[in-house]
Amino acid sequence: MQAERNRVLVTGASGFIGSQVARHLAAVGHAITALDLRPPPEPHPAGVKMIDCDLRHGKLPDDELPHVVHLAALGGVRPSMERPLDYLDTNLGATIRLLEHARKRGLRRFIFASSSSVYGPTAGRPSKEDDQLNPCSPYAITKLQGEEWGQLFAEKHGIDFIALRFFAVWGPGQRPDLALESFRRKILEGEAITIHGDGSQRRDLTHVSDVARAIEAALAWNGRGFEVFNVGTGRSHSVNEMLRAAEAWTGMKTKVHYGPAHPADVPATLADVRKAEEMLGWKAEASFPGRSPLPNSGKAALGLLR
Ligand SMILES: NC(=O)c1ccc[n+]([C@@H]2O[C@H](COP(=O)([O-])OP(=O)(O)OC[C@H]3O[C@@H](n4cnc5c(N)ncnc54)[C@H](O)[C@@H]3O)[C@@H](O)[C@H]2O)c1
Repeated sequence: MQAERNRVLVTGASGFIGSQVARHLAAVGHAITALDLRPPPEPHPAGVKMIDCDLRHGKLPDDELPHVVHLAALGGVRPSMERPLDYLDTNLGATIRLLEHARKRGLRRFIFASSSSVYGPTAGRPSKEDDQLNPCSPYAITKLQGEEWGQLFAEKHGIDFIALRFFAVWGPGQRPDLALESFRRKILEGEAITIHGDGSQRRDLTHVSDVARAIEAALAWNGRGFEVFNVGTGRSHSVNEMLRAAEAWTGMKTKVHYGPAHPADVPATLADVRKAEEMLGWKAEASFPGRSPLPNSGKAALGLLR
C-alpha cells in the first residue's frame, strides 16, 4: 500500500497548471487523485485516479484526504469584474467546502493556489509575502480570502495550509485568455491584436514546470501551520516583449492596436523570491522566452496546415 504522505488529491487537474502538476507529482512518486468538472486535455498518466466533480455542489471523495493541492478556480482578473458572484462561489465557497470536507477525512496539508494579484499595484518593486495587500479585482479578493480561511483552519484545526502566490504562469498548454497565448493564436489566425495600455506593463513570468516543482517542494516541506510563499522568478517582462516572443515563436506578425488600459490590470508584478528559496529550497529554473519556444507553436498547432 502507498504511504499516506504520498496520497494527494489535485483539484483543477484538467486545467493548464493542474494537468501538469498531476503528471509531475505522479512522476516523482505520489499517488494522485485528479479531480475536475471537465476531462483533461490529454489522458492523465497510468495510475492517476480521476474524479468528475463540481466542487461547488458535487459529491466529494469519501476516502481519507491527507494532502490536497487545490488548483480548481475561475482564473483571470478581467472576467472577474463581470462575474463577481461566480468567482465568489467557485474560488471561495468551493474552497471552504473542500477544506471542511477534507478536514473531516484526516486532512494534514492543504496547498492553495493563490495569486500575485493579492498585492495589487506595486509601482514595480518586488513584492514580499509580508507586504501590505491591496487586491483590486473580485478574483484577487477571492484569493486573499482563501488564504484567510486557510489561516483560520490552520489555527483552529491544526492543519498545515500553504498558500503559493503564483506569478503569471506560462508554458505548454497555457490558458487562451492570457496574453502570451492570446497573442500567439491571433498571430496564427491573422487577427489583429489589441493591447490594453502602451504595452509597458510588466509581468513576472513563471514557467509551469517551476510551479509544479514548487508544489512538490511545498508537499515535502517540514514546516507546520499556515505559511505563504511567492512562486515567481524575480524578473519581469513587458507585454511588448511578450508580443515579440509570440512573433518569434510563430515566425509571423499581425496588426497591433494599442487601446485604453484595463481597470483590473496592475502596471507590474514582480516577486521577491527569497522566502521560497530559503525555506522551501525552491528556485525557478526556466527563463522567458528561453531557448526553445513552446512546443507546437506554429500553424500546425492550430490545425491551420492541411
Ligand atoms: N495561470 C496563471 O497565471 C495563474 C496565476 C496565479 C494563480 N493561478 C491559479 O492557479 C490555479 C490554476 O490555474 P490555471 O491557469 O491552470 O487555470 P485553468 O482554468 O486552466 O484550470 C482551472 C481548472 O479548475 C477547474 N474548475 C473550475 N471550477 C471548478 C469546480 N467548481 N469544480 C471542479 N473543478 C473546477 C476547471 O475545469 C479547470 O480545469 C487557479 O487557482 C488560478 O487562480 C493561476
